[in-house]
Order: sequence, then structure tokens, then C-alpha cells
Amino acid sequence: MSYTRKDIIEMLSFTKEDDLGRLRDEALSLMGKEVGNLVYYRGIIEFSNICRCDCRYCGIRKSNSKLSERYTLERNEIVDTALWCADQGYGSIVLQSGERVDPAFISFVESVVAEIKERSRSEKLPKGLGITLGIGEQSRETYRRLYEAGAHRYLLRIETTDPALYRRLHPKNQTLENRIECLGDLKEVGFQVGTGVMIGIPGQTLDMLARDIEFFRDRDIDMIGMGPYITHPHGDMASEGMMEKEALLQLSLNMIAATRLVLRDVNIAATTALQALVPDGRERGLGYGANVTMPNLTPIKVRKGYQLYEGKPCLDESGTACGSCLLNRIRSVGRDVGFNLWGDSPHVNKRKVLIGNRG
Ligand code: 5AD
Ligand code: FES
Repeated sequence: MSYTRKDIIEMLSFTKEDDLGRLRDEALSLMGKEVGNLVYYRGIIEFSNICRCDCRYCGIRKSNSKLSERYTLERNEIVDTALWCADQGYGSIVLQSGERVDPAFISFVESVVAEIKERSRSEKLPKGLGITLGIGEQSRETYRRLYEAGAHRYLLRIETTDPALYRRLHPKNQTLENRIECLGDLKEVGFQVGTGVMIGIPGQTLDMLARDIEFFRDRDIDMIGMGPYITHPHGDMASEGMMEKEALLQLSLNMIAATRLVLRDVNIAATTALQALVPDGRERGLGYGANVTMPNLTPIKVRKGYQLYEGKPCLDESGTACGSCLLNRIRSVGRDVGFNLWGDSPHVNKRKVLIGNRG
């Protein structure tokens, strides 16, 4: 079934329980058919909060001088955490950080990726951990180096596809055009590409969000990570406020379901920001068609330094506590976790077959 813009807007605006019940049923049934019912873990390591960008919404933006400590984890801390993750049976990790483009940083990330790839190979994971990177806008050459080092997925949120809203959220030197170009470069280099938006940004409309979903579809995106926009007291937009929590949660859940229905066979994350709104936010996201979640593995000592928005959960939990807590949460909603698997979305494989046929 294909959905028009009007259909998508209608889904996003649902608030009545009978509409929502139908939306959930349709999204879950399609999810079961297209990607299965398993939930895949991506252990996330936020390895540095040093950032050259100044996105107005973000707590770790360059000009937030109130952020007391800027950190970068040591190489062995990152590698050990990744290996712990492999040992626990999480098939994939995400290495995420603020944006830096200097050669020392890129070489550092390249060699960390290569070491993790090499050392995480085992009987359980013959191809090693699946490695996803989220380190912002880089040159095509850098993307190529990181891909060759062993990363095979990349997350770069578009944040919003509305040009005027994008301009309002970012300084002049950070452009929507460049971000779109980066998404193209990533795909060309061979990465599975993930993107997403923030939901409920001041000034954002349902029409814009519907266009965002069409953008994901038209760009042939493989993975989606999106979550509610939540103010940060030291962000530059705190005075503009945010949506009321209940309505924001519902809109975010409706976005997940609508994205599932329109894109069908991609991986969709139930993001941590949902849990910042309500304690069972991530499980609710799974109930609207998400099939990926990201246990936080960032070492406790630096975790407070990576607060992009207010009320981020799990700041005191160790990796073990977070993983087992999540497992119980996932099982409580009748789902199970796909351990020791990369969990690539079927979308990627279909795309590969197409490319193969073409060649
Ligand atoms: N609220 C919600 N999400 C945010 N991000 C950054 N700041 C906020 C905020 N205040 C998200 C952005 C970015 C991702 C790493 O975190 O979408 O891409
Ligand atoms: Fe992190 Fe529960 S999900 S402690």
C-alpha cells in the first residue's frame, strides 16, 4: 500500500485510542512480516563530547561553556567496552561522538575501529562486531577510510528536512545541503545509512514531519533513529520551550508507526530520548513498530558529560545493569532480543541484490 502525504499527516495527528490501536496493530503486523519480531541491541559508546558544531538545540555544542568537562575516552577504554559488549552477545556497537575533522581524530577513530573489528572476531561472531559510526559530517575520503577500517553502518541525522527550520537550528556554516551530500557520500562509499529527525521542534509542523518521512523513503535510507526534541537548559533554544510531554510522546510514537508503514523493511530505533519523557518510553516505541534499541555502554564516569538534552535516563547505571534492565523491559512487552547477530535490515539485502543485478 502506498501512502499519500495526507495519509501520513492523518496518522501523525491521531490521539484517540481506537485510532492509535489500529495504527499500532498495522505497524506491528507489518514489522513482523518485513523485519520479524526480534529486537536488536546496538551498544552505544559515546566516546567523546568534544564538538566543533554549534547546533542550537544541543547540550554539547561548542559554545556551551557551562559543560564542565570535555572528554575523550582512551583507546583501551573504548576497545575494552566494545569487547565486553561482544562477550554479552550484543552483535553490534555504535561509536558516537561530537564532531571533529582533524587528522589526529580521524586516525584515532580509524585505528580503534580496526582494532575492535580484529579483536571481536570469535566463534559466536565470526565477522566480529557490527560497527556503526556516528561522528558527524566528514569528507568522502574520510568516510572511505572508516569504511575500509571495518565500520559498515553510519548514523547521520538530517534533524529536519525543512530548509527554513534547518537554518533556524544551525549556524550559517552548517547547511542542510552539506548534510544531504554527506548522506549521499556515505551510501556511495558502501555504508548502510541511518538518518532521522527530532520531533516536536518549535516551529515544526505535521506537514514537515510527513515530508521528512518521504525524504527517508526517497533517499532509500536503511535505518531510522528519531526521537523527541527535548530542551537543554544550556542549549540556545531553551527559551523557545518544548511540546507538552504527553503530546510529544504520542507524536513521536506516531512518527515511528508511520515510518514503519511507509518504509516497511528498515530498522527503526526506539531511542533513549523516548525514555527521557516516560520511564517506559522505549518499550512504547517497540510497540509502535521499532525493532532496535541502544543500551548505553558509555563508562559511568563520563556519562553525565554526554547529555544532549535534559532528563537523559540511565546516568548511574553500569553497562550490565542497563543491559539486563532493558532485556526485562523488552520481554515485558512480549518481544525477544536477537543476540549474537548483526541484525542488518532486510532493506539492505534487497538493495544489494538490486545492485548485483544491475552490475
Ligand atoms: N533533544 C533531542 N535530541 C537531541 N539531539 C541533540 N540535541 C537534542 C535535544 N535537545 C539529537 C540530535 C543528534 C543526536 C546525536 O542527538 O538529533 O543528531
Ligand atoms: Fe538503562 Fe534501564 S535501560 S538502566
